[in-house]
Amino acid sequence: MSDDTHPDLVAEREALHEQERTHEAEPSVGARRAAEALAGVANTPGVAKPDPILVADDMARHFGGVRAVEVEHLEVQRGTITALIGPNGAGKSTFFNLITGFDRPDSGRWSFDGGDVTGRPPHRIARKGMVRTFQLTKALTRLTSLENLMLGATGQRGEGMLASLLRPLWAAQEAQIRGRAEELLERFNLAHMRDEFAGTMSGGQRKLLEMARALMVEPRMILLDEPMAGVNPALTQSLLGHIEALRDEGMTIVLVEHDMDVIMSISDWVVCFAQGKVIAEGRPDDIRKDPAVIEAYLGSHRGLPTEEDR
Ligand SMILES: Nc1ncnc2c1ncn2[C@@H]1O[C@H](COP(=O)(O)OP(=O)(O)OP(=O)(O)O)[C@@H](O)[C@H]1O
Ligand SMILES: [Mg+2]
Repeated sequence: MSDDTHPDLVAEREALHEQERTHEAEPSVGARRAAEALAGVANTPGVAKPDPILVADDMARHFGGVRAVEVEHLEVQRGTITALIGPNGAGKSTFFNLITGFDRPDSGRWSFDGGDVTGRPPHRIARKGMVRTFQLTKALTRLTSLENLMLGATGQRGEGMLASLLRPLWAAQEAQIRGRAEELLERFNLAHMRDEFAGTMSGGQRKLLEMARALMVEPRMILLDEPMAGVNPALTQSLLGHIEALRDEGMTIVLVEHDMDVIMSISDWVVCFAQGKVIAEGRPDDIRKDPAVIEAYLGSHRGLPTEEDR
């Protein structure tokens, strides 16, 4: 089989064309809904949202002298794609770690969907409906795609929960989990990789697999830490399409992303971190022109990120 006709490439090209078609069209239902909901919201750091699914207060995490996160107040509007931007070391990943329970803050409290989840472990937060992916993918390389997804059903407990897969599950429960895994493999164009070890997949496919795995618990909110990093351009378009589709179905997405073009094209709202703090938030067009944002990037070792940085 020549490279050009490889099923992966064909699927990626199709996804790209589909994406181009969608982008020529009107904004999607989800994008319109998000714009309407955020219409009256001012561009002020920490501003209240009409229907926040996540609310964080006085969050601090210091590493020695480094103030990695110092967020006074942040709300994420339900049903939006909210981009988290900021120069390297701004505290974006640390903030993700804190609110999903993978790290503990020195202080702070936060609630998800109206319920306090302060200090809860990751699997309990996942069960409540908030899941995340990692900047460096955590697909288990010596499990197949299907096994990776089935393991995801345990709700982000990680490799320690592998043992639980070996324990007998109720047949009905196992069939249900398997069914959902198969559905997600299909949705993310990974059905042909069902029985392949994750270790044999491309970086982009592993990113898709990780996103699919996070969706196993049927979350209401997903946090994606640089889902497009190291992914080839065709698959990037496909990933963007999947993210928009999830938002259009009503899910809330927060994503860390460096590429300004990507941010402009898919986000409904942008929050900019610098030195652990929220220094700006607002609609993508406003954030791009915001002096505080430009200043934060100029003060870092590189300017506002562009296509060439990828
Ligand atoms: N486990 C840790 N131990 C010590 N310092 C840490 C740890 N994790 C993060 N830091 C520091 O905290 C700060 C914030 O890091 P973080 O990874 O959250 O930034 P980021 O915004 O995700 O950056 P990038 O865009 O490069 O991924 C940095 O100064 C980093 O060196
Ligand atoms: Mg990071």
